[in-house]
Amino acid sequence: MKNTSISRPAVVASEDASHGMRRARFLVLLGAVGGLALAGCGGGASGDTILVGEFASLTGKEATFGISSHEGTQLAIEEINAAGGVLGKKLELKTEDDQSKAGEPANVVNKLISKDGVVAILGEVASSRSMEAAPICQQSSIPMISPASTNPKVTETGDYIFRVCFIDPFQGTVMANFATNTLKAKKVAVFTDVKSDYSKGLAKFFKEGIAKAGGTVVSELDFNGGDKDFKGQLTAIKNAAPDAVFVPGYYTDVALIAIQAKQLGLTVPLIGGDGWESDTLVKIGGDAVEGHYFSTHYASDAASPKVTAFVDAYKKRYNGKVPDAMAALGYDSAMFLADAIKRAESTEGPKLRDALAATKEFDAVTGKMSMSAQRDAVKSAVIMQVKEGKFKFVETVAP
Ligand code: PHE
Repeated sequence: MKNTSISRPAVVASEDASHGMRRARFLVLLGAVGGLALAGCGGGASGDTILVGEFASLTGKEATFGISSHEGTQLAIEEINAAGGVLGKKLELKTEDDQSKAGEPANVVNKLISKDGVVAILGEVASSRSMEAAPICQQSSIPMISPASTNPKVTETGDYIFRVCFIDPFQGTVMANFATNTLKAKKVAVFTDVKSDYSKGLAKFFKEGIAKAGGTVVSELDFNGGDKDFKGQLTAIKNAAPDAVFVPGYYTDVALIAIQAKQLGLTVPLIGGDGWESDTLVKIGGDAVEGHYFSTHYASDAASPKVTAFVDAYKKRYNGKVPDAMAALGYDSAMFLADAIKRAESTEGPKLRDALAATKEFDAVTGKMSMSAQRDAVKSAVIMQVKEGKFKFVETVAP
């Protein structure tokens, strides 16, 4: 089923005519293999299974996000199948690793759609990577559901692109209000990863929220995700004497930033968004991340029967591991898709898209959500604080 089998006939055809018989047999064989490949390809919904594609950062710098969202997605697929599947068929998940690298999402999503023939795509967590894959899904009329990409531009690509998470105009406002009203910060600094669409967007919405809440942004600095030395910018931030610093980065960078801020004596609260939520933040950051705050999608210690059931099932499936927000959102993305396939009574792209768009209310692990006309989930955010190396629930903020 490799592409190489398609390029072979040209080579065979140029061989000596005395090899004609062998060549004919070879071509018949190729035809048979090709036929099988096509049967596998065209048939996202044919046969006994419905093929669902997933792309995730299973390796590379945001690996904990991809692994979590994949594990949550996998658990949902297993539960759906154990309950009889959808439309009388089992769901089959085909997962591709995009290695946390730009360029890979387009490769792997093209493959999932053109070669494997999936009926829908689940992914990605990072907005930059979702934005790379979205135009391919849109052009192929294959619905895509992002579990956790919060930049507004993701779903602006077109009417086949959905998400089961809130968007950053909301998340930015939540943290701006928290800084102003709860932390009583009058002056804030903003430290943005200019390599990430997520970071740039969230920084912008946070600043707008601060202006509305009556605060002042006293310092704005940039870094590039993956940098190791942040001391120059952090010194400039310290000199501006903010009451809090907003760092809309992802966990590895944030941990290093927290360590260096502490070394420089910049001890005001650091605050951030859902890019912080990984155990790795604490593993790398240690004491330096203690006491800081971030917004995210759900709290695993919330007292809701839906959350408890999910946390128990996940722990049982994955050796006692507690599911983080990306795991819960991966789970929700697959459940949301299965629900729409049932209502559509079909896996055809346009029908599936209509059913997804028609979702009025969906009871997700990450909270009750409705679908906006822009195909974004409208739902609550939670604020967490790092305490004794764990993430402790602070409050829920409704949209
Ligand atoms: N919600 C974030 C995003 O849309 C999640 C994330 C943050 C992923 C940072 C990777 C890095 O991109």
